Amino acid sequence: MKPKIKKIILKKNKSKIVSLTAYSKSIAKILDKYCDIILVGDSMANVLYGHNNTHKINLNNIIQHSISVKKGINKSLFVVDMPKHSYDNPNKALKNAKLIMQKTKCDAVKLEDYKDNFRIIELLVKKKIPVMGHLGYTPQFKNKFKIEGKNLKEINNLLKKAKLIERAGAFSIVLECVTSSAAKQITNNIDIPTIGIGSSINCDGQILVTDDILGLSGFYPKFVKKYTNLNRIIEKAVKKYSRDVKLENFPTKKNSFR
Ligand code: KIV
Repeated sequence: MKPKIKKIILKKNKSKIVSLTAYSKSIAKILDKYCDIILVGDSMANVLYGHNNTHKINLNNIIQHSISVKKGINKSLFVVDMPKHSYDNPNKALKNAKLIMQKTKCDAVKLEDYKDNFRIIELLVKKKIPVMGHLGYTPQFKNKFKIEGKNLKEINNLLKKAKLIERAGAFSIVLECVTSSAAKQITNNIDIPTIGIGSSINCDGQILVTDDILGLSGFYPKFVKKYTNLNRIIEKAVKKYSRDVKLENFPTKKNSFR
């Protein structure tokens, strides 16, 4: 097992695992100082490409952004999302996971829970490809947003799936938008770390979409904490630039070549 992955697993019960998404080198370079895990998420579909869901992002999009992100990473564990339709069946999953690993030099891939996808995890792990699972609200397979784990039956079902994902060999599981009780049950009953998004403090770590916490995406659901308002900061700078150009205050001699 890669030392970086071992370190993440050992962190369970010791200190919380800090994770964020990145789609470019410049952002990854900043995150790398403070994150344990950096994920190239298919959330780039909404955040960067302006789609309504994550379904249209393809392998090439993910690979190109990951190549950029890799250049900004020094120490964090680097995980890349497998886009929808890239793991429709075991053979396709293996071929595409290998391609992602080879082209991006990432440490692991992530894939969403759907039907018996744990079998795909089993195959990839057997072929030495580290996998992170993704359970709860899984945007690639659910068209309607819903908090999961609202009653005992749902909690037990999530726990059962989490155990299957763990047994298949995943080194960690993202829990997306599950109730605090479901997160607690899962976190306390599996040995691999859970990374929550909208899933309460009862997880071994947290992940959010970086553009959301920076106030850049315009998407701020209850589970997001906006740490700054980059939209406002960028708008101010662009407004000043526009005024400078119109008033011929820019470029000055300082910005020009002789
Ligand atoms: O695509 C993504 O950014 C993700 C996170 C929300 C976990 O999968």
